Amino acid sequence: MNNQNIVAKAIYDVVKEDLTLEQILRFLETPKSVDHGDVAFPAFGLAKAYRKAPQQIAQDLAEKIDGANFEKIEVVGPYLNFFMDKGAVTQAVLGQVIKEKNHYGDASIGNQGAVPIDMSSPNIAKPISMGHLRSTVIGNSIGFILEKIGYQPIRINHLGDWGTQFGKLIVAYKKWGSEEALQQEPIAELLKLYVRFHEEAEENDALNDEARAWFKQLEEGEAEAMRLWKWFRDESMKEFNKIYDMLEVSFDSLNGEAFYNDKMDEVVELLEEKHLLSMSQGAEIVDLTSYDLNPALIRKSDGATLYITRDMAAALYRKRTYQFAKSLYVVGNEQSYHFKQLKAVLLEMGFDWSNDMHHIPFGLITKDGKKLSTRQGKIVLLEEVLNEAIALANKQISEKNPDLENKEEVARQVGVGAVIFHDLKNDRLNSFDFTLEEVVRFEGETGPYVQYAHARAMSILTKADFQLDEAKEYRLNDEGSWEVLKHIQRYPEVILQAAEKYEPSVIAKHAIKLAQVFNKYYANTKILVDDQEKEARLALVYAVTVLLKEDLRLLGLHAPEKM
Ligand code: ARG
Repeated sequence: MNNQNIVAKAIYDVVKEDLTLEQILRFLETPKSVDHGDVAFPAFGLAKAYRKAPQQIAQDLAEKIDGANFEKIEVVGPYLNFFMDKGAVTQAVLGQVIKEKNHYGDASIGNQGAVPIDMSSPNIAKPISMGHLRSTVIGNSIGFILEKIGYQPIRINHLGDWGTQFGKLIVAYKKWGSEEALQQEPIAELLKLYVRFHEEAEENDALNDEARAWFKQLEEGEAEAMRLWKWFRDESMKEFNKIYDMLEVSFDSLNGEAFYNDKMDEVVELLEEKHLLSMSQGAEIVDLTSYDLNPALIRKSDGATLYITRDMAAALYRKRTYQFAKSLYVVGNEQSYHFKQLKAVLLEMGFDWSNDMHHIPFGLITKDGKKLSTRQGKIVLLEEVLNEAIALANKQISEKNPDLENKEEVARQVGVGAVIFHDLKNDRLNSFDFTLEEVVRFEGETGPYVQYAHARAMSILTKADFQLDEAKEYRLNDEGSWEVLKHIQRYPEVILQAAEKYEPSVIAKHAIKLAQVFNKYYANTKILVDDQEKEARLALVYAVTVLLKEDLRLLGLHAPEKM
């Protein structure tokens, strides 16, 4: 139980007749200064029922409330200020963490159902962009967070592996490509071919006709076209996997756009059956005026289906395959309109579960406030960014702790973790700047800072040879411990909030805060001094390690024990 609940219950026991527990909870405030206690109740809310001045009511309540859980209850004007009994609360909270360990904060509400998470979803033959990185790490973290409250995440990489660009790539490869070059650096080579195609096609329109012809072959399943398509896809996948391996992200499904090729007819048939299709300039559309949206373009005049048609097939497939409780799409903000249309068309078709589909948008990564561009070869190669981050981490660890065993492994966990943490620490809709030196710093609000606080806490426990004892009662009464304890106590709410908002930054912010208050505690308190409370202080440090590690896990980071 958190402090607000404890206070509300104590007040409720006295004023049952006049206020509900919910009403009391709504009145409660957290005082700005610790001098005014942990929780405050303004007595105004009872003035009407009691026909008395709020000051008087506060006074009366203070005398009647059971003080068992409180150090003291102060009356200041119309306010009742509750000071929690730190010893009792510490004992309860630490007892719970020690018993539940990394499951502290799990919601015990049972199986909540499957949640497909459409995430990462890069396009074959193009480099993974920083946007795809964001989708990957945000989606991955949301998966862990939802799992903690009882959902079953299904991570889906909806690869962009189909479209007219494959006709162009086949033409370009046949004219100017080489098998060797492609195998050596698949993405760079495919990108080069793609750029060259566009340059040459500007002079020579016949190339576009050839590309269309090849794409048609591909759609008809012609052997040579299929072979090349599959080869491009496989080679691209190998490069993507290098990055996924570094990030330690894995997928339950790689069903991309091509997977739905044979599932598109059904979508069009369903729309026809429901008389939702109309013609507009030769194309088939669904009118969405009643949703205040532009029409959804389902099929072009040449019979080709579109991005949204594929997403409709995918939504149907996911509903049937997973019977999802909800279905998430972690895709950049710029596709908001697409997802509004997608949901509207499905609703129009009578699929109420469309309301369980949520677009989880996010902002851009910028450089000096400007969008990072993938055009004209100015691509930021993610693999390089990660490798540089690892090198930077390695350098700093070598300075701090030259004898560290498995330094390479720790540097990898710190470097890659720094990039992930930087991505997740801001509200996902915010755009943010990316400067590697900032990202890998050991001070400030960074991943390494949190990991370092965890490692420091671990080393205290090792030094003291702390042994877990579930039967022991740990009580602490000092202000310093109390500051740390409060951030342990509120953890279950932090988890629920992160899950409700699909917001990993809530977890990241908790991790930063906990690391900060712990570092302050460590600086001001002699933890290892031999006195009566030593064991209790160690239990508090232990709880800090459990929560920091869990925070990091939920974000997709490791918590090295030494660094
Ligand atoms: N491949 C797309 C892109 O890079 C993202 C796909 C998002 N997922 C989806 N189901 N539409 O823009």
